[in-house]
Amino acid sequence: MRAHPAGPLHGGMTPPPSVGLPPADLGALDPQVWPRSARRVDGELHLGGRPVTELARTHGTPLFVLDEGDFRSRAADFAAAFHGADVHYASKAFLCGQVARWIADDGLHLDACSGNELALALAAGFPAERIALHGNNKSLVELQLAVDAGIGHVVLDSFDEIDRLVPLAADRVAAGGAPVPVLVRTTVGIEAHTHEFIATAHEDQKFGFSLATGDALTAAVRVIREPALRLTGLHSHIGSQIFDSAGFEAAAHRVVGLLGQLRQATGEVLGELNLGGGFGIAYLPDDDPVGPGDVARRLRAVVAAECEALGLPVPRLAVEPGRAIAGPGTVTLYEIGTIKPVRLGSGGQGAPPVRNYVSVDGGMSDNIRTALYDAAYTCVLANRTSEAPPALCRVVGKHCESGDVLVRDLWLPADVQPGDLLAVAATGAYCWSMASNYNYLLKPPVVAVRDGVATEIVRRQTLADVFALDAVLADVPAPSPAIDQPAPEHPAGARS
Ligand SMILES: Cc1ncc(COP(=O)(O)O)c(C=O)c1O
Repeated sequence: MRAHPAGPLHGGMTPPPSVGLPPADLGALDPQVWPRSARRVDGELHLGGRPVTELARTHGTPLFVLDEGDFRSRAADFAAAFHGADVHYASKAFLCGQVARWIADDGLHLDACSGNELALALAAGFPAERIALHGNNKSLVELQLAVDAGIGHVVLDSFDEIDRLVPLAADRVAAGGAPVPVLVRTTVGIEAHTHEFIATAHEDQKFGFSLATGDALTAAVRVIREPALRLTGLHSHIGSQIFDSAGFEAAAHRVVGLLGQLRQATGEVLGELNLGGGFGIAYLPDDDPVGPGDVARRLRAVVAAECEALGLPVPRLAVEPGRAIAGPGTVTLYEIGTIKPVRLGSGGQGAPPVRNYVSVDGGMSDNIRTALYDAAYTCVLANRTSEAPPALCRVVGKHCESGDVLVRDLWLPADVQPGDLLAVAATGAYCWSMASNYNYLLKPPVVAVRDGVATEIVRRQTLADVFALDAVLADVPAPSPAIDQPAPEHPAGARS
């Protein structure tokens, strides 16, 4: 459990170590962190060729601004690096109809983690044969949808799921259809995050079949012997926000070992190896993730070497990047409401340090990651630059929760004021997709920007949408304009 970060500082006089010294330029946009199209024009942040004040005026705040060129070029970077392999976009990072179409048009595959993600992709016209369905508790209804749609793979996660899938698959075969193609998800005993990975013998978690206990081998043998299923390969996923390929290499070593055991046990040589997602991105300027080119080179090398050692043909590789495609190209725009200076100590030399609590018009309902994982983000004053000296700040949301923090510690110009716009970088993955209606805040829209054109690809939720779910309020008109809906003359545009 992480200690409350404010605790030890209450008696101290120095800023927290995590924030470091103020950067030379508080308005700088580090290309590692900001979308590929981000630039300042006369001090104002522009994304995809559109000024943020205009985006805020038109669409309101909070607002997710997705740089389409960034998203699609990162997808293309993975496709190029893994040429001859299959790149599955992990749609849990962020999915909507438009994203499903981009991924389909750009030739990638797609992972769904629930029947509804699958249904959304199918409804958007995504080719079923390029979809894989994950999940540790797939229902009969979800499996039936996958079987009926003819998706590329069901990624089997438990013995119960095999029991559930077999009769559905058998019905399809009896009706003249093909056996259902499946992968067996193995838990390889590697846990990787950022720079470290831990290799263990056992796994104490809900996903997959354990390699260490022999369950993975048992499951794979059982599936091979099941005529209604077609085992095409093995799957493993070892973690998230991984900066180093060593964990993937260790996982590949173990899972190729299972391919060898399977050949020995059944004579069957499987042709596919899916090594999952988890490729890290830069949330802060100091973060140094490896690029897709390096990861692809190292993974190919280790799989080839392991296969050679076992005398196995090299299987077709697949990977499942989510964050590394969706994360860096999206920025969340917020409007600052309240600014509260809070003294961190008193007495001693010089002025007591102060932290400015900068409250914005969203929070943990549109980005739960800081509260949930202690995730680190950075942000800048977006509607203008400033020559004011740096002030230690914490960007917080408007929820009734003291843990409602978006950016824990950062430096902003001391003259930030209510009505200014803040842009938080790298919010494209696991923010909108994890959004909630906590405190009945409404889910923000997503606007795609490209070459000077802004297109709302997901509209803002309305209070009427929320009332419609409520047995008592379904027929009660929602207040108009709804509280926290952008007023027609949103003040953001007036600033400069
Ligand atoms: C099986 C699987 N594949 C892919 C991913 C995508 O991970 P990331 O977005 O970190 O690339 C996840 C994320 O948890 C996952 O569980």
